Amino acid sequence: MQLHQYAVVLLALLVGLESTLAIPRFRAVEVLSSRSSSVDKPKPLHTTSSPDVQELYFTQYLDHFQHQDTRTWQQRYFYSNKFVQKYHDDSMKESRRQQAAEYMFLCVGGEGPPLDASVLIDSVHCSGDMLYTAQYLHEIWNVNIHLYALEHRFYGTSQPFSEDYYTNDKLRYLSSDQALHDAAYFLQQQSQNATVVTFGASYPGYLSALLRLKFPHLVSAAVSSSAPVQATLNMISYNDAVGANLQNEQLGGSSACYDVFVQGHDQLNHLVRQPDYHGLLATEFQLCDVDSLMETKNIQLFLGDGVIQWDVQRNDPACTDELCNIAKVCDALVSRAVQGAEWSALAWLSRTMRLSSISAMDCLVLDWNETLHQLSQPREEWRSWLWQTCTEVGYYQTCLPDTNCPYGRGWHPLEQDLEICRVAFNITNVANNVHATNNRYGGYDMFATRVLSVTGTEDPWTTLAFRPEHPPPNHQPFHSVPGASHHYWTHPPKGTDDIHIQRARQVILEQVMDWLGFDMNHGEDSGVAVKI
Ligand SMILES: *[C@@H]1O[C@H](CO)[C@@H](O)[C@H](O)[C@H]1NC(C)=O
Ligand SMILES: *[C@@H]1O[C@H](CO)[C@@H](O)[C@H](O)[C@H]1NC(C)=O
Ligand SMILES: *[C@@H]1O[C@H](CO)[C@@H](O)[C@H](O)[C@H]1NC(C)=O
Repeated sequence: MQLHQYAVVLLALLVGLESTLAIPRFRAVEVLSSRSSSVDKPKPLHTTSSPDVQELYFTQYLDHFQHQDTRTWQQRYFYSNKFVQKYHDDSMKESRRQQAAEYMFLCVGGEGPPLDASVLIDSVHCSGDMLYTAQYLHEIWNVNIHLYALEHRFYGTSQPFSEDYYTNDKLRYLSSDQALHDAAYFLQQQSQNATVVTFGASYPGYLSALLRLKFPHLVSAAVSSSAPVQATLNMISYNDAVGANLQNEQLGGSSACYDVFVQGHDQLNHLVRQPDYHGLLATEFQLCDVDSLMETKNIQLFLGDGVIQWDVQRNDPACTDELCNIAKVCDALVSRAVQGAEWSALAWLSRTMRLSSISAMDCLVLDWNETLHQLSQPREEWRSWLWQTCTEVGYYQTCLPDTNCPYGRGWHPLEQDLEICRVAFNITNVANNVHATNNRYGGYDMFATRVLSVTGTEDPWTTLAFRPEHPPPNHQPFHSVPGASHHYWTHPPKGTDDIHIQRARQVILEQVMDWLGFDMNHGEDSGVAVKI
């Protein structure tokens, strides 16, 4: 779930202008950060993108619940044997194979951008947890570990259909349940009796836990990072948590910073209601069309998710670029804000951030009708995750009055998200769908065994995850990482990672070793620092 680029260059293609269409942040848990058109390219059959990692395709069933339906499609996966002992002599390999236990670690794919070979080398997913643990077990214990990453159906190049991938009749085959059965069938075919551990973060973290819940005969243990396990229609808690992040001094936030956001959006809330100010706002915020502010639903696009296009959930305390984290944004904003005109500091920040993004020259289109139209196009990539929110999980990050949302309070009502479900997919029973998901998997009562849940205290998604106030049932282990944003510990280890992030990786390593029957205290050279 990396995101959250909520504004997307779309109209540019239609009218030949540089412009950016604002779409609401229906925030994928891991958001689609790029509008890669990789699905339009011919599918490579076997490309090796890295000497260590193979990109491969697996013949997968389309519908795991209709056994008469034998249609198949090609699902992408990545494989690396870099933590498997290589033997030059085949007979030696065979004899070794027979005596030594083999392990398979699976990085579960989700709703993010297309996977590539980096998923088994150094990506934000599965590095600090899965690869770190695998390297340790291989180097210190001589354990053979086969590394896999499996892309989720309807994302990246794992498209069940060859054209118009995302029409409603095709999206019927997109669900977490189908995806779990994809993974189960894949494991059954690939694992060859190896002991399997699954890993994932965000929505894939949820899937990782569910794989162990549903298929304990195939999956020995699961690590589930930053997983929003309680499907929720109206996720008010998300922006409340963002508000708390902005005030959190440990992250470099402050109450002054939060106040600039709240006051600034409150001032804008008044200014947009007065047409005399629309020209000024259009200039300050680089809007393409002054008149767009005459429509309530366009104003929702403008204020409901904040006028600043940034992604608080990805806070990286050690980043070095300008305005790259909460501390730097708050410093700049507070020093710039003038009492009574906080909105102007927000406008400055909005322009500055846009300048450093790819859409530097664009103006911003606020056009709700056009947004709905775009989201209804059969080839629109956003439709996969939106479909899953409408049919399964909700997770709508509203911004309502009387909350601590730091943006335009009242300007992101639930109705906005429900309208998308209605118009783009003809789905009207979203609340029921969300309930059904919790009934199916258990939500906070997910009664699994051997699932380790890890969450960050400063991650807005933790409000729907297992956490100290809401530990997993059945005495399952969980670990709360102080100060951490959205699955920060699954990123590749860096020298700047603080003690809590390092500790989270150690907790994962030790728990997996314990489940697999290794004794941390009796390893050859145990205690040697691992580096990836
Ligand atoms: C898996 O284990 C079963 C029973 O132990 C054995 O018969 C079978 O050959 C094994 N399969 C592979 C692929 O190793
Ligand atoms: C948006 O579409 C609705 C329904 O089609 C229409 O009533 C409304 O006038 C449109 N608004 C704009 C600004 O085009
Ligand atoms: C929308 O769904 C309803 C039933 O849920 C159905 O009767 C109607 O035909 C659908 N409309 C479209 C345009 O598919």
